[in-house]
Amino acid sequence: MRLILCGPPGAGKGTQCKRIVDKYALTHLSSGDILRAERAGGTELGRKAQSYMDSGGLVPDDVIIGMMIGAIQKAAGRYVLDGFPRTLPQAEGLDKALQEAGEKVDAILNLLVDDPVIENRLTGRRSCPQCGRVYHIENLPPKVEGQCDQGCGRLVQRDDDKPDVVRNRLKTYHEQTEAVVGFYKAKGRSIINVDADRDIDEVTSAIFDELDAIKR
Ligand code: AP5
Repeated sequence: MRLILCGPPGAGKGTQCKRIVDKYALTHLSSGDILRAERAGGTELGRKAQSYMDSGGLVPDDVIIGMMIGAIQKAAGRYVLDGFPRTLPQAEGLDKALQEAGEKVDAILNLLVDDPVIENRLTGRRSCPQCGRVYHIENLPPKVEGQCDQGCGRLVQRDDDKPDVVRNRLKTYHEQTEAVVGFYKAKGRSIINVDADRDIDEVTSAIFDELDAIKR
């Protein structure tokens, strides 16, 4: 199964992807997680990405497209894309690569949440730098405060979850990323809209219903 999960920052893409990959045995390909790993590893790609990520802007398309197409090729047709494609050139780059490989995305899910909800979600988010699991200090607290439930160690707050950077990420989303859904609609692809402003388990259940229907 090849899936794309779209939505604004803080919509719950990472949270839901962890559950989707567990249930359907897929690989989670998060452009943000891959970039953060490159930064932590001190690679050239990570250094290039740093200033864009810290300001809430987007890393240049040529860097991202090569990075993500490489990851997709390794995932052997079983993946969920999180945070990619995020611009029209990225959507076109993905389309071209899939066409060349004779492949097609099975579903495009779009998580819908209004801007005011997002700020609270992002400023309360805590993440595990080891396994990538995502928590929230109120909505989804870990069993032991500040510690990953999987036993990996301490949770961290992302630098780009500060309020001014969050506002810039939202601006970037509306200016550059929202159009990606329009790109797929114009190509006649159906978009599965999911109301993501409800309980995390309810969102998961709505997504699973849609994906189960596709598998049948
Ligand atoms: P990235 O890591 O992709 O960040 P993002 O898209 O901004 O998304 P987030 O990870 O912030 O949110 P999410 O939707 O995954 O929400 P989550 O599940 O964590 O990108 C970071 C940066 O990298 C970008 O700004 C850019 O610079 C760069 N980048 C990445 N991809 C790029 C690309 N393709 N092109 C160019 N640059 C790129 O949930 C958020 C919080 O809410 C959590 O605490 C969670 O517990 C809580 N929560 C989740 N769901 C619910 C719910 N239903 N109810 C209540 N709380 C909830």
